[in-house]
Amino acid sequence: MFFAKLLLADEFPYLAPVLVPEASCSDYSDRMRSAKDQIRAEWVVASRLQQPNALVLMPRQLACSEINRTMIWQALSNSRPLAQIIKRAIGADRTGEIGISALWRVGAWLKDSQKAHEVEQTFLDLAHVRNILAQQRDVHVALRPFYQFALQIVTQGIEALGRERILLPTTLSHGDLSLPNILWCEDTNQPAIVDFEHTAIRTVVHDPVVLVSNLRAKLFNPLIPCEVVWKWEEAFWSGYNPQKELKIVIEVLASAWIYHWFLPRIADRTTKQPLLQWILRRFYEQLFERRLASTNMEMFLRRINMCSKAVGRN
Ligand SMILES: Nc1ncnc2c1ncn2[C@@H]1O[C@H](COP(=O)(O)OP(=O)(O)O)[C@@H](O)[C@H]1O
Ligand SMILES: [Mg+2]
Repeated sequence: MFFAKLLLADEFPYLAPVLVPEASCSDYSDRMRSAKDQIRAEWVVASRLQQPNALVLMPRQLACSEINRTMIWQALSNSRPLAQIIKRAIGADRTGEIGISALWRVGAWLKDSQKAHEVEQTFLDLAHVRNILAQQRDVHVALRPFYQFALQIVTQGIEALGRERILLPTTLSHGDLSLPNILWCEDTNQPAIVDFEHTAIRTVVHDPVVLVSNLRAKLFNPLIPCEVVWKWEEAFWSGYNPQKELKIVIEVLASAWIYHWFLPRIADRTTKQPLLQWILRRFYEQLFERRLASTNMEMFLRRINMCSKAVGRN
């Protein structure tokens, strides 16, 4: 059995999911590369991440053709993405056990993999992030409260760390380590990681931030129990087991992302849709807004404070 991945369009988005807002705050669409370059990047770099390990599965690479814009991977039979499993948390995985087991292993694998591929060190400047958010807040008047929240989170993070510039190792990162790209394989009861299309050298915070922010975005989905989301996140932390300061940086960027990227895009959704979709969307938004009005923001700030106490600051 094999899984064929065909790149239908030529020209592919070059950037990984946005972690830190860019000055232009553009979508990914202005930075593209050809399908051929995309395949080469995904195929070659994926092979470097594919080191044998007992924690996660990775589909074997069987063949690739740049001309036919196709990659052939080993098919992971009986597998479902965690993004699908968490949506059914109320029914299929009520206690969240699958995600807990999967994310602990993914965390432990990520730690090992980052160590094995470490390259050099670089500074992440949270003051720069804070300045960009302040600019965005002043430009996008309608979205001001979201940017203001993101700014508050970053400011609080800087206070908790006691400085603005943080020295971080760079490493080979997966690039899009989000819930749709982590599959649960029922035959072996193991998580598998797929989709290496954004693999590149980045700081160690990149992959954890993508995963944690992707999880935290689920806190705003009224159909997913919050306890399950937090349990999954805790499982990831206990597998990944970062130093306290690294955890603060990840928490700050992940929570800020919810406010500078995820919520503005939901708020921005177009109304040019058929009636049924419109009704469903209104229904969803009502539920969604109730969650937003609750204490998510406070929760994020409280968690940053909890971490900073553990480091002995504040
Ligand atoms: N090797 C595989 N075996 C089985 N299913 C897979 C495999 N690789 C990917 N998938 C499924 O296909 C979906 C899309 O593949 P992915 O590589 O993530 O492409 P995309 O770049 O479109 O996100 C995944 O979310 C997963 O459900
Ligand atoms: Mg994918």
